[in-house]
Amino acid sequence: MKLPHPIPYQGSKRNLADQILRFFPEHFGRLIEPFAGSAAITIASAYYFKANSFIINDINEPLINLWNTIINNPKSIIKSYHDIWHGQHGNEEEYYYQIRDRFNETKQPEYLLFLLAKCVKAAVRYNAQGGFNQSPDKRRLGRNPAAMRDDILRVSQLLKGKTQLHSDDYKTVIDLATSDELVYMDPPYQGTGVNGGFNYAGNIEFDNFVLSLFELNYNNVPYILSYDGRTGDKTYGNPLPEKLNLTKIEINAGRSSQATLLSRSEITYEAVYLSPALISKIDLQKVSHNKIHQTELFAK
Ligand SMILES: C[S@@+](CC[C@H](N)C(=O)[O-])C[C@H]1O[C@@H](n2cnc3c(N)ncnc32)[C@H](O)[C@@H]1O
Repeated sequence: MKLPHPIPYQGSKRNLADQILRFFPEHFGRLIEPFAGSAAITIASAYYFKANSFIINDINEPLINLWNTIINNPKSIIKSYHDIWHGQHGNEEEYYYQIRDRFNETKQPEYLLFLLAKCVKAAVRYNAQGGFNQSPDKRRLGRNPAAMRDDILRVSQLLKGKTQLHSDDYKTVIDLATSDELVYMDPPYQGTGVNGGFNYAGNIEFDNFVLSLFELNYNNVPYILSYDGRTGDKTYGNPLPEKLNLTKIEINAGRSSQATLLSRSEITYEAVYLSPALISKIDLQKVSHNKIHQTELFAK
């Protein structure tokens, strides 16, 4: 059965979740996702019984309100999505823009869900005034309410009563982490590339982020960081300092859509970095040699 994934989201790690979860320690207290987005890794962790307690954080407050409704009040969001989705028939494009205006006025989560389900590439785009400004995908109606209903109910079942929701800057949430927990971080990328150019609600300042990683190391907090990637020999993302002592793993993320368009057969690799505290809790050779087929390993 496919992992439930109620919030369509460009940059979601849903397709890489299996490969990322292989680096999880056998036991840990809580999974913390400071840059949750569609929370693909949290959902996969709950689904595969890897963790039983979660923090989902994202600076995008309406997105966290949407998470709150999906997890704690699923029936209400299922009904709203059903009603909003059916309202579009015969007038799809104009209707989308009306919902977008309503979202920008009210920030109500049900409007955001419809927008994400229906907009181009499920890509969150905000203008300088903080208004959602992505256009509709005119070829699609957006995920059908019956499929959405199933995903919402399944996710609510997995996460209800086990999940704290925050909408803060990542730093506030990282500060909560202890050495018995696991932090999974997927910050917005700078520049262009695999994930670059995505105009999420917030951003990070590289030097401050690196400082947070040093602090996590100092406090022995195990973490996994999805950070950069490459297609062919083109690499994206600022290099991280060697002194962080991270172990870099490249995950085969499949053929890049750009390369496919140009009929080149370039594979995109996404890098994950494992913290020293995590390395001390897992048998890297075992997870890498026995179970990972498409991953190249080069521990620094
Ligand atoms: C690459 S996406 C995460 C995607 C996620 N892994 C998934 O599976 O959907 C990065 C997320 O970080 C959030 N974000 C940006 N700046 C942030 C900040 N300073 N603190 C917390 N979250 C932030 C964005 O709103 C976006 O949802």
